Amino acid sequence: MYRSHNCGELRMSDVGKEVTLAGWVQRIKDRGVLNWVVIRDRYGITQLVFDEERTPAALLEQSKTLGREFVIQAKGTVIERESKTKNMATGDIEILVTELNILNAAQTPPFTIEDETDGGEELRMQYRYLDIRRNPVKESLIFRHKVSIEVRNYLSEQGFIEVETPYLIKSTPEGARDFVVPSRMNEGQFYALPQSPQTFKQLLMVGGMDKYFQIVKCFRDEDLRADRQPEFTQIDCEMAFVDQEDILNTFEGLTRHLLKELKGVEIGDFPRMTYDEAMRRYGNDKPDIRFGMEFGELNTVAQHKDFNVFNKAELVAGIAVPRGNTYTRKEIDKLIDWVKRPQIGAMGMVYVRCNEDGSYKSSVDKFYDQEDLAKWAEATGAKAGDLICVLSGDTNKVRAQLSALRMELAERLGLRNPEEFAPLWVVDFPLLEWDEETERYHAMHHPFTSPKPEQIELLKTEPGNVKANAYDLVLNGNEIGGGSIRIHDKEIQAMMFDYLGFTPEEANAQFGFLMDAFQYGAPPHGGLAFGFDRLVAILGGQETIRDFIAFPKNNSGRDVMIDAPAPVDDEQLEELSLKLNLKS
Ligand code: AMO
Repeated sequence: MYRSHNCGELRMSDVGKEVTLAGWVQRIKDRGVLNWVVIRDRYGITQLVFDEERTPAALLEQSKTLGREFVIQAKGTVIERESKTKNMATGDIEILVTELNILNAAQTPPFTIEDETDGGEELRMQYRYLDIRRNPVKESLIFRHKVSIEVRNYLSEQGFIEVETPYLIKSTPEGARDFVVPSRMNEGQFYALPQSPQTFKQLLMVGGMDKYFQIVKCFRDEDLRADRQPEFTQIDCEMAFVDQEDILNTFEGLTRHLLKELKGVEIGDFPRMTYDEAMRRYGNDKPDIRFGMEFGELNTVAQHKDFNVFNKAELVAGIAVPRGNTYTRKEIDKLIDWVKRPQIGAMGMVYVRCNEDGSYKSSVDKFYDQEDLAKWAEATGAKAGDLICVLSGDTNKVRAQLSALRMELAERLGLRNPEEFAPLWVVDFPLLEWDEETERYHAMHHPFTSPKPEQIELLKTEPGNVKANAYDLVLNGNEIGGGSIRIHDKEIQAMMFDYLGFTPEEANAQFGFLMDAFQYGAPPHGGLAFGFDRLVAILGGQETIRDFIAFPKNNSGRDVMIDAPAPVDDEQLEELSLKLNLKS
């Protein structure tokens, strides 16, 4: 038996017990005649004591050979501590050691294994197994486990069945590039790793599974950000014989359950907003509604004077920054520089100070009088003491820029409280999205998404205005899930492929299996997938998903610990018939 107890459980009631603990050396306080060693395992830390009076000399000496992160086993008696500490759960007791076994010596770790470590991100990723010993990372992984248990329990109770779908498949179009895997047995042919199990879950509905879910890995070769990893996890779900309302209610239920069980937060009906409204009010399809600063559109109140910048703009819009009038000229200039950075891309920013006495002072006083500015204040909801920031130009660009400014200012003003949860359904997404590069329409969600039935006719004349039965679940300004009601009719699906520029041959080659399945009795169906990493991170009060993944990739998609990706040897390439292809 390696241990009788773990390092987090002994209390005053255990005093006098003979115990055996095993774990890693967290800290050593060597005072010569007295040596304290703190031992750690997943459950906590416990202090071991060796002293000249009570410990045999050889054992005291042996305790001095220990180093940080040595793996040890200690036998001894639980005793009451002289100086108790509230800093650790076991702070009332310590172990007077009678036998010490060094199970494994350890090199000094490259960074301290403490909550606040001296290790930088790259180093911690290289030695992720050491990072995982630290409480914040360990707690994040335990939290992730708890979320997955709650998800499985809730969905199982609602009658969902977890079904695994394959990883070696054919391309699924979710908008990113595929990771491909060469097939040795089928020369010159490749599998694609799933960007999602989309087509399989639809086939499961044709197969009569009725309610499916899966906590599943997905793979997307796309540019990485704090909330994106090349391999990530979804809670993927699909239901048959449902309409949009059934789906929203079911997954609102799941989200409410998770918020209650894991955060103790009770939330009533989730608000809903159409995509168009979200874009108009927040410039964004995943608005953070925990705070105001909604957009005020100013075209009608700002385009009648001689200010040409505004007159030729498609959209003039502003936001009121609460108490922003306290900003100095220098701070405002910095803000203007911020919106002009290439990442944001604004040409400039007009501002209006809303003075406490009700008057206004703007950067465009030459063109606008107090009466005009009062209308701007009204449109943006600005109060005395606020600062109105105004951007203008192409509608889509202004919305994106002002939305970025809104989020940045909210962050600076501390309005994004991670312990406050504001879910939101964004519904009625456009079916199609114009792609400037290819000069074609692309499916905004994916090509299996159903148009609003009453708008199918519009597809012929105004494809860009057709809305879909598609929805996103937004939590605190993050898209944590998305889904749609699917097309279950072969003819409509073929029509969609046609609109998306697939020839019947291409559609057949890529999705023939799905179209075939639709001939054998496909029920009406729909579903949604949560980004599990994102959901866990946000419930955990953060937005960087890396912290909630045991072995994440860095921003260039590398695993710096195992050093992947890496070249493979010539023999392997040859076996896969890749060598010649690469050289030619
Ligand atoms: P979608 O592409 O919207 O839908 O993905 C669903 C959710 O997955 C999360 N997500 C990601 N998380 C981390 N890293 C990534 N690279 C990444 N990409 C997406 C997001 C997103 O909301 N098959 C459809 C679902 C459906 O229609 O049922 C799908 O995959 O939180």
